[in-house]
Amino acid sequence: MAFPSAPCALWIVSLLTALFAAAVHSNIVSDEDPLQPMTSDETVSVGGMVTLTCRVAETDNSSLQWSNTAQQTLYFGEKRALRDNRIQLHRSTPTELSINISDVQLSDEGEYTCSIFTMPVRTARATVTVLGVPGTPQISGFEKPVPEGEKVTLTCTSTGSKPPAKLRWYKGDVEVQGRPDVVESVPDDPTYNVSSELTLEVTANDDNAKISCVVDHDSVKHGEKRSEQSLRVLYAPEVAITPEERMAIEGQRFSLQCSGKGNPEPTSYFWEKAEGELPPLAKADGAFLSFSVLNKSDNGMYICHAANDIGKGRGSYTLQVQGKGRNTEEKPDTTAMSASSGVDHAVIGGVVAVIVFILLCLLIVLGRYLIRHKGTYLTHEAKGSDDAPDADTAIINAEGGHSGAEEKKEYFI
Ligand SMILES: *[C@@H]1O[C@H](CO)[C@@H](O)[C@H](O)[C@H]1NC(C)=O
Ligand SMILES: *[C@@H]1O[C@H](CO)[C@@H](O)[C@H](O)[C@H]1NC(C)=O
Ligand SMILES: *[C@@H]1O[C@H](CO)[C@@H](O)[C@H](O)[C@H]1NC(C)=O
Ligand SMILES: *[C@@H]1O[C@H](CO)[C@@H](O)[C@H](O)[C@H]1NC(C)=O
Repeated sequence: MAFPSAPCALWIVSLLTALFAAAVHSNIVSDEDPLQPMTSDETVSVGGMVTLTCRVAETDNSSLQWSNTAQQTLYFGEKRALRDNRIQLHRSTPTELSINISDVQLSDEGEYTCSIFTMPVRTARATVTVLGVPGTPQISGFEKPVPEGEKVTLTCTSTGSKPPAKLRWYKGDVEVQGRPDVVESVPDDPTYNVSSELTLEVTANDDNAKISCVVDHDSVKHGEKRSEQSLRVLYAPEVAITPEERMAIEGQRFSLQCSGKGNPEPTSYFWEKAEGELPPLAKADGAFLSFSVLNKSDNGMYICHAANDIGKGRGSYTLQVQGKGRNTEEKPDTTAMSASSGVDHAVIGGVVAVIVFILLCLLIVLGRYLIRHKGTYLTHEAKGSDDAPDADTAIINAEGGHSGAEEKKEYFI
């Protein structure tokens, strides 16, 4: 019973396969209808130009036609049908009808139709997507300098994008994370207004920092639309003390300058000595502390305080007065020292090289001696070696070479 049913099932399967193949084939044939017009979807930014191209593989000389989203005929062959100077014929041949639409508006978005007046009429559709170009971003929220440690919230806004643009924040060249974009839309306006907030806790280092907001959108190159806001931060002076003279030499004049970097600039300076009163011959005058005649007793740590409206800062400098006579000796001393250290290096290098050379010679001599003796030993033991460092040993090794090779084989197995 089961035996005859098997060929029957096979027959049904092959019939179905053939039918399916025929169906698929006929589908392909209809896709390859040489009179079927072909179009492509296009994306264009507001104000830009788009070319709509409609092609057929073959033609029976029937006319091609483009019509707009409202089914109005734009071009019938090379004949213009709608009076709109933005729409121009690009190319009209028996197999192609291409039109250009310039200064594209958001209202131009939609489905355009290409038809060929065969029997029956064949059509193809092309969807034009119009991108709303975002406006240059605007940063708001920063009106006046802020004291360090406080928070600043900046808001960046860009209007008129479609689809909604993405806003990015940068501090200098480094991207910083703002709050997620807020997207606004109103009825009857297909575009969006986008805004983003960035909150920063400012430090003294942020004074003059450049914060920028960049719009990311398909219709603009990255970084093309951006705006920048410089931060101004108020901070207490950071104090640095620099000596005016290169050296502090006993009996000579000497002075220190205190520079307070702050915003605003420091308004007052105050000098003191860590271990008590300022020396009588030291004159404090604003940012400067001058010694008319240095004395060893002036040694010690000097402190400068600088203040502005925001606060105070301090810095220190340790004065080490050098003896009059000793210093003149000391100066050549240091050069002599560095020179001698240079000589030392050369001498050490030379000595090391000589020692290494001697060691190498010794090694070679010792090696030759040992190998010669070892070779004799090996010959006695019927063991050779491939690496003969000289003729003598090579000859010696050749004598016992055979068993040596075997020994090697065993070793490697
Ligand atoms: C189309 O027209 C051209 C001349 O304009 C003619 O040579 C060609 O044979 C025509 N093709 C068909 C399919 O009618
Ligand atoms: C139409 O657009 C194409 C580019 O797509 C351009 O080369 C051509 O000059 C334009 N023609 C007209 C009439 O504007
Ligand atoms: C975007 O902002 C502009 C001006 O600020 C306003 O006129 C417009 O209605 C806003 N559009 C949307 C979609 O919110
Ligand atoms: C330094 O001061 C001491 C007393 O304070 C004085 O005796 C000495 O002469 C001074 N040295 C110089 C170089 O002025």
